[in-house]
Amino acid sequence: MPTADLVVVANRLPVDRVEGPDGEHLWRRSPGGLVTALEQVMHNLDGAWVGWGGKADLEVEPFEFDGTLLVPVKLSPADLRDYYEGFSNGTIWPLYHDVIAAPEFKRSWWDAYVRVNRRFAEAAAGAVAENGVVWVQDYQLQLVPQMLRELRPDITIGYFHHIPFPAYALFAQLPWRRQVLEGLLGADVVGFQRAADAGNFQRSIRRLLSYPTKGDTVQVPLIDDGSRTVIAKHYPISIDAQKFIELAKHPDVVARAKEIREQVGSEKLLLGVDRLDYTKGIRHRLKAYGELLHDERLTPEQATLVQVASPSRPGVEAYQDLRDEIEMMVARINGDYSSVENTAIRYLHQGYPREEMVALYLAADVMLVTALRDGMNLVAKEYVAVRTDSTGVLVLSEFAGAADELGSALLVNPHDIDGMKDTIIRALQMPEAEQARRMRTMRRKVLDKDVEKWGRAFLDDVERLRGKRLAP
Ligand code: G6P
Repeated sequence: MPTADLVVVANRLPVDRVEGPDGEHLWRRSPGGLVTALEQVMHNLDGAWVGWGGKADLEVEPFEFDGTLLVPVKLSPADLRDYYEGFSNGTIWPLYHDVIAAPEFKRSWWDAYVRVNRRFAEAAAGAVAENGVVWVQDYQLQLVPQMLRELRPDITIGYFHHIPFPAYALFAQLPWRRQVLEGLLGADVVGFQRAADAGNFQRSIRRLLSYPTKGDTVQVPLIDDGSRTVIAKHYPISIDAQKFIELAKHPDVVARAKEIREQVGSEKLLLGVDRLDYTKGIRHRLKAYGELLHDERLTPEQATLVQVASPSRPGVEAYQDLRDEIEMMVARINGDYSSVENTAIRYLHQGYPREEMVALYLAADVMLVTALRDGMNLVAKEYVAVRTDSTGVLVLSEFAGAADELGSALLVNPHDIDGMKDTIIRALQMPEAEQARRMRTMRRKVLDKDVEKWGRAFLDDVERLRGKRLAP
């Protein structure tokens, strides 16, 4: 098999397998956040990508897609149940998002997580050139760095954690907490979204492993003697802002935004765009909007809420329950407050291509990003990027990573329903001059710190350690 100097390992490949018009199998670039973020970084670097092809038991040889070598990892239905839906999304996801949903600690899920992480590590070890770099992505693969270090001591390893890293008191609940920390410390650079995440990680290391930490570094003792330096710090992820701006200027997208506004018909449009996930605070948002209608502080004619909730992890019970709850709330609010002419909430349980998302962003007077906990939230940055005329208001949860950089948004605590109601009204009434002042400050941040800079900042640190390793 050909090898690459830089290999990305992620749970998913950056493509989805779809059926062509004649029933043939085709690959299409998938629209997910992680893929979007890494797309440009990878494009410039000519690397390989190891990941799952999105369907159970899919057996495909490595193939080239858009200049990148894609190396599929096969996952059986049992792997998907126990490693993906189980340990990744039934244990780690809720535990790391502040236990908004209760994590389950099942030993059979852990066993599958170890087994599947080893499979990814082996695939990456086979795809990376001598003295190359492997960049591991996200919480599904926390054991891969250490496994890779054992398989390939010549390479340099980076790991980026896209979701929050929890406070010690929560992380300490995990029965396999030491194994997870040791898995991550197999990397030379461990990256996080927020400074607070890196701090939580370092605190857990001090408490559970007693390894010394100083500034952005951890000293990992070696068996013989001495220690190895691991960088553990924050590198807030971003978007390809120029690509979003180009899309926002495309005549078809502009026309589509106008069409949406005309068809929705209300004076103002509130927008929420999320995966259907309990971390996103969709229920709290619906409650706030529903109460504003109930209190007669708003009517659907004044402001309609468009809520895109793209289908996610339908095999996990908490997501099924959430969908039922949200759909019940939407139906109740619409039943109580819509009229024949005006619908209060347009609820869309669908995924959309980027063009349609940008048209929605352009059509929205107010963007509601009210997550209860979120690693970063790229939707907030996308909304800001496309508002080239500096109109529009971003209402942003202080519990989303994006709040660290986008302090000029209207920041809210989504648990405080009264506070959120007042903020929505304030957003709807905000004078254009204030909108412009806030939006300009945020746009400067997003345009300056784009995803390319993020990738470069992370890989520069990896390269620095690689240089030291090769020329000690
Ligand atoms: C989050 C995670 C990603 C994940 C994505 C979609 O953004 O950080 O790792 O890929 O959600 O979730 P899914 O389970 O469909 O891959």
